[in-house]
Amino acid sequence: MAGIYFHFPFCKKACTYCNFHFSTSFKKKKLVLSSMIKELIMRKDFLNNKIIESIYFGGGSPSLIDPNLVGEFIQCVKDYYKVSEDAEITMELNPDDASYEYINSLKKNKVNRISIGVQSFIEEDLLLMNRSHNSHQAFRSIEMVKDTFENFSLDLIYGMPTTNLDKWKFNLSKAISYDPPHLSSYVLTVEDKTILKKQISSGKLHSIPEKEVEDQYWYMINYLEKFKYHNYEFSSFSKSGYYSKNNNGYWSGKAYLGIGPSAHSFDGLMTRSWNVSQNSSYLNSIEQNCLPLSMESLSLKDRFNEMVMTGLRTSSGVSIQKIRSKIGEKFVSYLEETAKKRVLSNDLYWDGDHLHVTKKSKFLSDGIASDLFLVNF
Ligand SMILES: C[S@@+](CC[C@H](N)C(=O)[O-])C[C@H]1O[C@@H](n2cnc3c(N)ncnc32)[C@H](O)[C@@H]1O
Ligand code: SF4
Repeated sequence: MAGIYFHFPFCKKACTYCNFHFSTSFKKKKLVLSSMIKELIMRKDFLNNKIIESIYFGGGSPSLIDPNLVGEFIQCVKDYYKVSEDAEITMELNPDDASYEYINSLKKNKVNRISIGVQSFIEEDLLLMNRSHNSHQAFRSIEMVKDTFENFSLDLIYGMPTTNLDKWKFNLSKAISYDPPHLSSYVLTVEDKTILKKQISSGKLHSIPEKEVEDQYWYMINYLEKFKYHNYEFSSFSKSGYYSKNNNGYWSGKAYLGIGPSAHSFDGLMTRSWNVSQNSSYLNSIEQNCLPLSMESLSLKDRFNEMVMTGLRTSSGVSIQKIRSKIGEKFVSYLEETAKKRVLSNDLYWDGDHLHVTKKSKFLSDGIASDLFLVNF
């Protein structure tokens, strides 16, 4: 099983916190899209005939693409790859791009899941983030999507400089009022080279204390549990049967092909690759029938660390069986030995041959994982 990810590198505005690759000039939009189709065909053998169970249009803002063109991308995948009958086909939708006409047309063109970038329902937050939508559009877009699609997800961000616990409670309750099958709720990361980072460094804005971020996290965990959401990964919550095949593919180490500027790919074994994060270099390279790729071979140590990190972030945990079969028995012994201290301190526990983070230590999953990392090997 495998997935295909399309990265559409254009946005109407630069959100202050975002360091994904995108351009706010649309001059090259048409050319980039046609080059992405060309890249998709050039790389038709990358997935070795594996069955595609997820196609994902992300970005940037893929909801700036004409839905008929989205249909052409999907058809092209079907022409050149083996696509499962029940493949998940997701489109990220910015609330200001939503209209019944647009959403219906996505459905006609075989998209079957929508991920709406709400981030917050509060006007002050949206202004601070420099989002291209307002709170009315956030509410309206969900109503329209819910009327049209059974499977949809909402993205929210907490821990922003303007988020306090009361505002976070409001955002979560509004999100839940639509009974979404899936929620992705991200803790704010202040990324390098972002406007937000500059605002914080210059003292214009202040990060909220870690304790407040943690309070927002615990409120979310307990609140969403009451509404029967399964927290299947640190930031991901789903109703039964609605986990994201796309996200799960990444975390379980399945192969994926990333198309478009800056998109990453993984062969499911030991090789990662990524396209250049620059639209004109991408275009020049594809025009000359060259893939604009850089590659890295993962060492066994890298694979081990990655499996520990993703495993501890997910509810399925770190599978000893998987470590044994993918990278070898000695890594199993190392993990069993180093995990002992954290098991004694009740941060980790074993369930059969799976290692998990205990509920009390979930917020610290990444730190606990890095304690188990192999540094020298
Ligand atoms: C890269 S965006 C693409 C989706 C779409 N363009 C949008 O913004 O709605 C995917 C998601 O990543 C999350 N995200 C991006 N940057 C983040 C950051 N610095 N911290 C936390 N979440 C972030 C947002 O929730 C966003 O919806
Ligand atoms: S968060 Fe989404 S809309 Fe905002 S700049 Fe990043 S990709 Fe574009």
